[in-house]
Amino acid sequence: MIKSIILTFLFVFSSLPIFAGEGMWLPFLLQQMNEKEMQSMGMKMSAEDIYSVNKGSLKDAIVQFGGGCTGEIISGSGLLLTNHHCGYGQIQSHSSLENNYVDKGFWAKSQKEELSNPGLTATFIISMADVSTSILKGVTDKMSASEKQSMVDKNMEQLKKNYAKESYQEILVRSFYKGNQYYLFVTETYRDVRLVGAPPSSIGNFGVDTDNWIWPRHTCDFSMFRIYADKNNKPADYSSDNVPFKPRHFLPISMDGIKEGDFTMVFGFPGSTNEYLPSESIKQITDLSDPVKVALRTRALDIMHKYMVASEAVKIKYVTKAAGISNGWKKWQGEMEGLKKTDAFGKKQKYEAEYNRLLNSNAALKAKYGGVLEELNANVIKSNDYVKIREYSLEILRTNIEMLRYYSKLDALVNAFEKNGGEEMMKKADAVKSWGPGYFKNYERKIDEETFAALLQMYYNDVDKEYIFKGLESLAPNSDQYTANVKALFDASYLNSEEKLNELLIKKPEDLANSIKSDPAYIFYKEMIDQYNVKVAPNVTLYEGKVTSGMERYMAAQMEVFKDRKFYPDANSTLRVTYGKVNSYAPRDAVKYEFQTYLDGVMEKYIPGNYEFDLPPKLIELYEKKDFGPYAENGKIPVAFIATNHTTGGNSGSPAIDAYGNLIGLNFDRVWEGTMSDYNYDASICRNIMVDIRYVLFIIDKYGDAKHIVDEMKLVHPKSKPKGVKTTPKGVTKKPSAKK
Ligand code: ARG
Ligand code: ASP
Repeated sequence: MIKSIILTFLFVFSSLPIFAGEGMWLPFLLQQMNEKEMQSMGMKMSAEDIYSVNKGSLKDAIVQFGGGCTGEIISGSGLLLTNHHCGYGQIQSHSSLENNYVDKGFWAKSQKEELSNPGLTATFIISMADVSTSILKGVTDKMSASEKQSMVDKNMEQLKKNYAKESYQEILVRSFYKGNQYYLFVTETYRDVRLVGAPPSSIGNFGVDTDNWIWPRHTCDFSMFRIYADKNNKPADYSSDNVPFKPRHFLPISMDGIKEGDFTMVFGFPGSTNEYLPSESIKQITDLSDPVKVALRTRALDIMHKYMVASEAVKIKYVTKAAGISNGWKKWQGEMEGLKKTDAFGKKQKYEAEYNRLLNSNAALKAKYGGVLEELNANVIKSNDYVKIREYSLEILRTNIEMLRYYSKLDALVNAFEKNGGEEMMKKADAVKSWGPGYFKNYERKIDEETFAALLQMYYNDVDKEYIFKGLESLAPNSDQYTANVKALFDASYLNSEEKLNELLIKKPEDLANSIKSDPAYIFYKEMIDQYNVKVAPNVTLYEGKVTSGMERYMAAQMEVFKDRKFYPDANSTLRVTYGKVNSYAPRDAVKYEFQTYLDGVMEKYIPGNYEFDLPPKLIELYEKKDFGPYAENGKIPVAFIATNHTTGGNSGSPAIDAYGNLIGLNFDRVWEGTMSDYNYDASICRNIMVDIRYVLFIIDKYGDAKHIVDEMKLVHPKSKPKGVKTTPKGVTKKPSAKK
């Protein structure tokens, strides 16, 4: 008995997120959940310094940037820091051949030169509250998923209507713990966000795809913006009368750097994780989803790269497309490898065995949750076949083959004609016409045709017979005729060139609709998508629905069964705190990675003329003259560092914050071996990657000659305080007063 209690304790304890790093925590619950641990790891702040509704706190310096990234405020005049890859669209949109800010960088010399970006937003979180009781009122275990949903929707509407807020604020309610809890957020969204500065992409995206997801890293992945507000400091549409926003708090910047073991926290908006899945889901990801996606993208990228290497013109057309496809491709490979290497499936099975043991030893819990896990795993297994065909279909129809992706536009014309007649169709045809030039400017038929042939052959050979449709069969994928057949299909397509598309779009309504309908490539697309919609999608929806409601029950069960464990909710694009320590790592036998990189490493990787590793002459000059200003440490410029913070997509641009609340870095990526952290955080190999803030300052000041931007910030030396002086987090409570 005693032995089993000890064993239980050991097991449960070892499955806790005890190692510094795991977890994406809710800022308003830090005091009860994390404060003690954070302080024991070296944090010198209180939970109230991080999140407070009564005074300025760290959270007032954090924004969701443009919907998908994070940014932070670093001056009393609304200066905002985020990643280069987060601001890339804006940098690109202001670029022209004469003023190519992507290539050359951009630095506004004064506020007048800052560039406005219609549609770009920055959202602050004003307050948060647990509203589970109001939202789940009237919901019972007996209800079906849809009954429950409509009850929740009704309650939510009611709550939003009655919740006190200002006219310029919004209310957001999100589900947590798989629908077992609901939290409310009061937000303020600023709509006038202007570009202040960016390094050339040879610095801001140094290493491009080769270095993406890789440590050691040497990228200065930052760009800067400024939030503008109306005269009352409130959100407003762009206007030349707007003034720089005055934050309730901004982050001071530490000039003291980091060392191994230092406390770090990352504050931002992680997008999506799934840490509480059953074992069969882990198996589905490692053995099915990831391998299918990776195999298809490997072929697609091989083809693209073959043509990109052969021609500079093709390279320019395909660099951004290749980067988009490659980001997931590379991440999933690291994910599969990491999940296998750490035996994530076996770990889940052990965890489930312990869960069952505890569940079965408690009659009340057993009555409530008995069978939930078994049914969930069974439903995941049943979904496998559909998930496989879904991955194939989405990769082929939506991602890797441009022509198929854009038949959806022609399909919309046909639908409009059949439902609403010629006039409606012609309105849509105008939109297709205006889209055409941009599309064909960057289109290479030979790449698309070869990719089409390759990926559909993989599909043909790997999916169940019942998903082979007529159009594919008639291309005879394994015959000598296949290449010629694909070529004939492309020859006949209205989407093979801009001329062909224009020839189509000048037709009269009925003729236009009929021409599309007799285009063999459209027929091919239509067969494939119809089959997907009829045979696959309903089953995917059915089993996903079962898995979703199973997960809701299983999540509740896990929280009751392991009642002493601290559970953090999966990421869902809401504001979170993750904390850890600066930490080197050893991914393989005899390999150890240091925690910090330097400018020397940038120079080591330099390849003149190479599109990924070229460098601007001025940076080389600064390096050779050692013209480092006050930003060097022991004669070297620190470039990037890693720590055990648990981050994911959406955390890009998040601040890395020291024990006192100062900015030390800018989060932008994770190490390849640790990308499995979305399902199975493991502190031995999961690391987030941050640019060292001193490299950012060096680039702005010395490379960009934009010292006036650095002067706006508040630089501090938290580590070099005289001995005996108590280091309280002064910057946190201070009014925003930018030190010049
Ligand atoms: N892997 C990082 C993330 O998922 C950075 C992506 C941007 N950089 C790139 N080279 N594609 O967003
Ligand atoms: N690079 C990611 C982002 O853009 C961050 C990550 O996945 O670690 O959000």
